[in-house]
Amino acid sequence: MKIKRLVVLISGSGSNLQALIDQVHLIPKVLAEIVAVISNRADAYGLERATAAGINTQVLDHKAFPSREAFDQALQGLIDEYAPDYVILAGFMRILTADLVNHYHGRMINIHPSLLPDYKGTRTHERVLADGKAEHGASVHFVTAELDGGPVIMQVKIPVLPHDTPESLAQRLLTQEHRIYPAVVKLLANEQVRLGTQGVELDGQLLTQPLLLPSN
Ligand code: GRF
Repeated sequence: MKIKRLVVLISGSGSNLQALIDQVHLIPKVLAEIVAVISNRADAYGLERATAAGINTQVLDHKAFPSREAFDQALQGLIDEYAPDYVILAGFMRILTADLVNHYHGRMINIHPSLLPDYKGTRTHERVLADGKAEHGASVHFVTAELDGGPVIMQVKIPVLPHDTPESLAQRLLTQEHRIYPAVVKLLANEQVRLGTQGVELDGQLLTQPLLLPSN
């Protein structure tokens, strides 16, 4: 099996990127290498994390482009310079055009801080608390043109605690995001998971529901 080339897209802190660096990047038996980290913001701390790990970084400032389409075309060109097998969105705060997403069909994944299909979009922790939910979680999914709507590969669940605030909930969930994202990327790298015509397949079998990461 060949070593899979990963390009990771970020906009901010990059703590999920760090989890991928620590648990996936050039780790024996995982068969994956992060070949570039691309940010739309020059001040994204994740760029420092990448540099510290010896990974190529690129900044493509969306504000320098006249339209979303123009930015996405440039982004696609930049990503493809690295000939990635997979494009990993890790806190990349941009809505992507259908053209870009379709170009990476079955090869682009995202992590979203909710139990999809519930709570698509932003401020998920706040909305979960406002609704009095007992449970929250994160989902890793293939990216399709529908925002936060692509086939879900794996989820992790956490309980909502009585005194939780959006911040405490986000923090506790982030710890779990750092487990689930590497777990999914390892499955992709080792060719166990793929997007088939009917949905997500694990070892050639169609998943009828997302995988659930066991709690630690
Ligand atoms: C995470 O909450 C992730 O679920 C969401 O954006 C955040 C990124 O955080 N998509 P970080 O930059 O990885 O620390």
